[in-house]
Amino acid sequence: MRISRLVTAAALAAVALWSLNLPAAADPDGATAEGADRAVPVDQSLRTLATRHNVRVGTAVDMSAFTNDTQYRERIATEFSAVTAENVMKWQLLEPERGVFNWGPADQLVESARQNHQLVHGHTLLWHNQNPTWLTDGVASGEITPDELRAILRQHIFDVVTHFKGKVWHWDVVNEVIDDSANLRNTFWLANLGPGYIADAFRWAHEADPTVTLYLNDYNVEGINAKSDAYYALVQQLLADGVPVRGFGAQGHLDVRFGNYTAFQVAENLNRFADLGLETSLTEVDVRMNLPPDATKLNAQTQAYGALLLGCLVAKHCVMFTVWGYTDKYSWVPGFFTGQGAANLLTETFEPKFAYREVQAILAYSR
Ligand code: G3I
Repeated sequence: MRISRLVTAAALAAVALWSLNLPAAADPDGATAEGADRAVPVDQSLRTLATRHNVRVGTAVDMSAFTNDTQYRERIATEFSAVTAENVMKWQLLEPERGVFNWGPADQLVESARQNHQLVHGHTLLWHNQNPTWLTDGVASGEITPDELRAILRQHIFDVVTHFKGKVWHWDVVNEVIDDSANLRNTFWLANLGPGYIADAFRWAHEADPTVTLYLNDYNVEGINAKSDAYYALVQQLLADGVPVRGFGAQGHLDVRFGNYTAFQVAENLNRFADLGLETSLTEVDVRMNLPPDATKLNAQTQAYGALLLGCLVAKHCVMFTVWGYTDKYSWVPGFFTGQGAANLLTETFEPKFAYREVQAILAYSR
């Protein structure tokens, strides 16, 4: 009896030792069988998962959908820790008549963000699109002279930045000012004001609110290429001139057929801006495809979302990963690219795609 108890105890101890030693002996990096139980935390929101990282996960918000679609509005609150106005902070919508502002929809978004503990990425103070006709027609007819245009720009930046002072985390001060050939974009801003308008816009925004982080923002600059090289040179010049540029935004509008990256390529590019002292963000991520979607295209989309997110997470100072809308129900893509769409993380009925699960998995398990 006694002997048999001893034998049993010894056998159990041997089994215990064997099981304790096995992982270390089999895998010097300490992997254990527990790994087999890991699963994508499907019940956790992106904002919850992102708290492990010093990164905000954001979405662009369509204010018309926000007002009319409860499911859309509620999901923004639970899923995201940052928001960007898809349209309502643009000049055309904020100042439809000269000196007459329509703050309502933007204020509504900012207030909702405050209530939901979200940060606001301001988009955008200066762009060549979505300007009010009083401005574009006035410039085209010569009614607004270059000197007057400069004064109008200064006033607009002052009014808008002052209005949202203390409520906005970042401003896209200038949007898409370099073209696809890596030259300063030939816009009415450049034609009338000369290249110095970029530095002026940053200085005026900084005067109005010295605490807000001021960004350059553009598409096709996620990896190192001629266009992002041009931004790198522009930032170096602006900093040498004492211009308060503090952030670089890579939009991340991709197409499954081209322009996709690896995480390393994204981080390599973002890091060179960080080395100049800038913070970086992915500001407008979506990945479109020719409709209808199929498994191959959805897999390519998943890879693209994953590479952009992981690139941000492993980069030195990437603070935000924002998607340009989160459901295919409301997307700018079909209206701009005939026959294309399905660019977002959720389907039109708010079902998660592979890409959404990938984003969850990366947030849960990367570094
Ligand atoms: O508000 C009017 C509405 O009254 C009218 O009935 C309707 C008819 O077309 O148009 C509505 O305005 C549209 C506006 O979005 C609001 O929905 C404009 O036509 C349409 O051109 C505009 O598109 C926006 C686009 O910028 C303008 O270039 C998209 O929603 C918006 O997603 C897109 O966002 C840009 C970023 O700001 C910068 N980076 C690229 C990105 C995608 O193009």
